[in-house]
Amino acid sequence: MDVFPATSARFPQIRPRRLRQHPRLRDLMRENRLTTHDLIAPLFVYHGTNLKREISSMPGQFQWSVDRLAEPISELAEAGVPAVLLFGIPAEKDPLGHGAIHPQGIVQQAIRQIRQTAPDMLIITDLCFCEYTDHGHCGPLTTISGRTDVDNDATLELLGQQAVSHAQAGADVIAPSGMMDGMVGAIRTALDAAGFTSIPIMAYSAKFASAFYGPFRDAAESTPAFGDRRSYQMDPANGDEAIRETALDLAEGADIVMVKPALAYLDIARRIKETFGVPLAAYNVSGEYAMVKAAAERGWIDEKRTVLEMLTGFKRAGIDMILTYHALDVARWLNQP
Ligand code: PBG
Repeated sequence: MDVFPATSARFPQIRPRRLRQHPRLRDLMRENRLTTHDLIAPLFVYHGTNLKREISSMPGQFQWSVDRLAEPISELAEAGVPAVLLFGIPAEKDPLGHGAIHPQGIVQQAIRQIRQTAPDMLIITDLCFCEYTDHGHCGPLTTISGRTDVDNDATLELLGQQAVSHAQAGADVIAPSGMMDGMVGAIRTALDAAGFTSIPIMAYSAKFASAFYGPFRDAAESTPAFGDRRSYQMDPANGDEAIRETALDLAEGADIVMVKPALAYLDIARRIKETFGVPLAAYNVSGEYAMVKAAAERGWIDEKRTVLEMLTGFKRAGIDMILTYHALDVARWLNQP
């Protein structure tokens, strides 16, 4: 690639800085823009009543009871955040995670509550069992050759039921996060059979076994009681495999694919966008949020500038929509630059 040297040899008068002199010209030259339309705000819905509990490792983020959800939802709606992603933390957990499927389950109740508060809000629900199982893994367990692991196909059956239950409660988009083989196909089949052919699936397609999920597991009380998630989430070292995982999800009917986490995986996002050209989401996860908040609290970085730079970088990488705990702040900053 000798494009620039060749060009400058022929046109030695080219000076890139010329286009950076006037602020209005810099605006004209800007290739990527972050807008409020790009944002999806994750929310933690907790069992009980009258609860707004700050998550200590995620300053500014709270566990909310259903009866108080109107507060964050109204704030998000007023700021122009168009979508939320719901996580539920139920009162009771069991080996199969039954609470995830119940019509009066925590997420099902939250969906109805949000629909009342902000009828136009797009409601996306995270589909997984780790918050509902007493062992904290993403589906029921089985032991084969002395190794205990999530039972893939038993989980598929339950995921289908969970997806239909969320759709019946009024969810607009279903986002399966468990990284089970065949999960998108199983959920698509179950949704279609129940008449929900128009509910899209946003698949966590390239989800890595990441240390950046630590604060989330405090918030969602979903730390595995033993072992880790490396038999279902991906090895952070693998890029080709992320392309294969994404191809599978698309073949099974995923409408939107996701990369997670975001910051350390922007190469994966770019590869997915260039390979498939499909709608692409990225999850700016809890540990990424916590790092920014911690440094900003100490006065070591400028929070607003840092966050806007990160999220604009996601757009530049080819990401269409961003799941981020910064959503409310970002929307407010964009409204009053
Ligand atoms: C559930 C799930 C996790 C996250 C989103 N959905 C945790 C995990 O896989 O352990 C992490 C989100 C975050 O860190 O912000 N499977």
